[in-house]
Amino acid sequence: MIYSKIKGCGSYLPEKILTNSDLESTLDTTDEWITTRTGIKKRHIIGKDQFTSDLALEAAKIAIKDANLKPNDIDLIIVATTTPDKVFPSTACILQKKLGIIECPAFDIQAVCSGFIYALSVADKFIKSSSAKNVLVVGADAMSRITDYSDRSNAILWGDGSGAIILSSSDDEGILSTHIHAKGEYGELLHVPKKDKEGCRETIEMKGNQVFKMAVNTLDMIVDETLNLNNLAKEDIDWVVPHQANIRILEATAKKLNMSMDKVIVTIDHQGNTSAASIPLALDFGIEKNKIKPGHLILMEAFGGGFTWGSALIRI
Ligand code: UT7
Repeated sequence: MIYSKIKGCGSYLPEKILTNSDLESTLDTTDEWITTRTGIKKRHIIGKDQFTSDLALEAAKIAIKDANLKPNDIDLIIVATTTPDKVFPSTACILQKKLGIIECPAFDIQAVCSGFIYALSVADKFIKSSSAKNVLVVGADAMSRITDYSDRSNAILWGDGSGAIILSSSDDEGILSTHIHAKGEYGELLHVPKKDKEGCRETIEMKGNQVFKMAVNTLDMIVDETLNLNNLAKEDIDWVVPHQANIRILEATAKKLNMSMDKVIVTIDHQGNTSAASIPLALDFGIEKNKIKPGHLILMEAFGGGFTWGSALIRI
């Protein structure tokens, strides 16, 4: 049986930091409100001269090196992003050029905060059908570019960054299953509406409270779906590597799994919600901190705009 195995991992956060106290000086908010309602203390913000592909490049270079590969060993690039450099070409094609990769298929996936799970799911199918051997899967977002910094319910949440993995074909267990879903009927609860006023920057609008409730209930269901398909019990999972939307959502998922928060990788405190980048950033953080180790069973899960949601069960 062919498996997709994570052979390398990398991540990148831009230099500039936006703290809660910075936000206190421009918005009617407090560090106390942000911390207790979201778990966020600070987030990183992309530089004026940087694009999403620059964030992706830094994470990709580390992941390729970590996998002991050269850029031209990559035979497929998938970038999950909501904030592409341009309408076209895709950020994946721009990244391919920046990495000096001469030729391979490259495309973007747009599933907002679930984008990395969607990308992983597609990459896994390429590997299992022997259509690719070494896939570069990146989650990269510059959410600050689509955030309205006068809207206190949104400005506090979002951060920028990137994470990348190399998925390679292997005889050893790797991805055990991926699960992806979407329900377009809820699109307008979390979206970037098309504004027709000339020159108006398009920014995120969210009915936060409704999204929160849907996220908690849906993540409960996806955990059950994933464990049932694999005939596994909650106790079999070593680490949950969740999308980082709100510490209270992470706590609700841990409770559902009867799992202590010590088994959940948490980065939201210092990264905020980085959308498609948050899961690979959390994975890299967990590996760096010597928490996630070879042989561990990890559950990734995400919920985001669309609505989209998904999960992946992976043997590291
Ligand atoms: O990643 C994709 C998926 N995204 C999510 O899953 C995000 C889900 N939603 C959330 O994380 C939370 O709903 C938010 C953090 C966005 C908001 O937290 P909440 O506890 O749901 O607050 P709320 O929207 O119910 O607002 C409660 C109060 C309101 O005041 P009133 O009407 O009760 O007087 C808001 O105006 O908190 C107020 N508020 C704030 N106060 C201080 C909203 N934002 C702020 C703020 N500082 N930044």
